[in-house]
Amino acid sequence: MSKVKTAFFCQNCGYESVKWVGQCPSCMQWNTFVEELIQKESAKNNISWKSTDFNKRINKTISLNEIVSGEESRLLTSDIELNRVLGGGIVPGSIVLIAGEPGIGKSTLFLQNGLSLKNIIVLYISGEESEQQIKMRAERLNLSNENFYLLTETSTQVIFQEIKKLKPGLVIIDSIQTLQTPFIDSSQGSVSQIRESAAEFQRFAKETNTPVFLIGHITKDGTIAGPKILEHMVDTVLQFEGDRHYAYRILRTLKNRFGSTAELGIYEMTDTGMKGVTNPSEILITQKEDQLSGIAIAATIEGTRPLLIEVQALVTQSVYGTPQRTVTGFDLRRLQLLLAVLEKRGGFHFGIKDVFLNIAGGLKVEDPSIDLAVLCALLSSYEDVAIEHHICFAGEVGLSGEIRAVNRIEQRIAEAEKLGFEKIIVSKYNLPAGRHGQKGLAKQKFNIEVITMGRVEEVYKYLF
Ligand code: TYD
Ligand code: MG
Repeated sequence: MSKVKTAFFCQNCGYESVKWVGQCPSCMQWNTFVEELIQKESAKNNISWKSTDFNKRINKTISLNEIVSGEESRLLTSDIELNRVLGGGIVPGSIVLIAGEPGIGKSTLFLQNGLSLKNIIVLYISGEESEQQIKMRAERLNLSNENFYLLTETSTQVIFQEIKKLKPGLVIIDSIQTLQTPFIDSSQGSVSQIRESAAEFQRFAKETNTPVFLIGHITKDGTIAGPKILEHMVDTVLQFEGDRHYAYRILRTLKNRFGSTAELGIYEMTDTGMKGVTNPSEILITQKEDQLSGIAIAATIEGTRPLLIEVQALVTQSVYGTPQRTVTGFDLRRLQLLLAVLEKRGGFHFGIKDVFLNIAGGLKVEDPSIDLAVLCALLSSYEDVAIEHHICFAGEVGLSGEIRAVNRIEQRIAEAEKLGFEKIIVSKYNLPAGRHGQKGLAKQKFNIEVITMGRVEEVYKYLF
């Protein structure tokens, strides 16, 4: 009798089923189930990172107080942005997934980081590029390192043999989708292959205390190709964002067992690799001499860093029955909401106008404090009156047209001051008048004029 076991997997989310089903009960996608072989009997005795005494080990319960907390020594890379998104360096034995669209710079960044780590042995496993190609890229990056080893291989069995010989201090896998484990017979890149290969590296990382970076592709709709389960298996998920046509790339933490998930690294793709951007605000604002309408500067916070971002709006007469609303880098529904607020509270007729909104630099902004700048950019374009270029904004706009307080206002004001802005408009609830106590903050502290306002009408009157 055949000993081959198969199961059906949803290629979208990794849901496993014994029978074929038309619609995935987990992610509701249609026709995503594919039969995959999950166990090959003959492969049972192959070498892998399945520790032999794994089943013999007895796990006993232990009081948390009895566990001695090891002094966590993180491995610091020379890349400040990467250290930051990892929560302060690489944790030994951690497994990190880096996801991003093809061509965004994943291979470049991790080759670069591998080559810069001089005191440990780094093993870079590539299943996508040849040795020649990687050598060419390293030459382009102008980096060399004696402790950097390369392996172009896709079989996990061969990879672990090499790892046992080399004993690296860091393993980089480019990419997880190319790996193949002998324990599973389904094709390369299938859900069960990815899951099993990742599981082998997870065991390896935990047992040897070696950090592992897994590079993974994402599909067009932004999900990590193959299984969502991969995200559950790893300690940290970093996502590469940004438009390939712009030079800036954002490395965002989506999950981190060893640090904050609100972190963000900003890189610029240059002809000699990825360079960390230490002064993002200065680059994101195009400080033009002549003043143009439809531009407003927002003082936002991305991750834990204040960031000044330019918002551009264009409001034109609509030629079609249904006016157009087009956004890049901002939530379309949020724009519609702000337009409705302006329509209702200010009596502006945006209903007969086409509205285009763009966040400069190809960034995607989620911080609600950008609302006020978006609103002012819209009004500026509507009135065709430019906003003075030394003013910036930080405030969330509510449905009744009130300007709401935002968090960490001092950091925003300090950043605006640093960049030479003369005025910042914030919510009056951030700085309650006459109460410069613990909650509010003293305006005098800053070398910038802090203007507090409570309603959007006041802002309109002030600016136009
Ligand atoms: P790559 O790291 O191969 O992307 P991924 O691994 O995410 O698919 O990046 C490829 C792009 O980066 C490619 O379009 C060329 C560009 N690039 C530079 O602009 N400068 C460089 O120094 C390097 C090595 C690549
Ligand atoms: Mg690549």
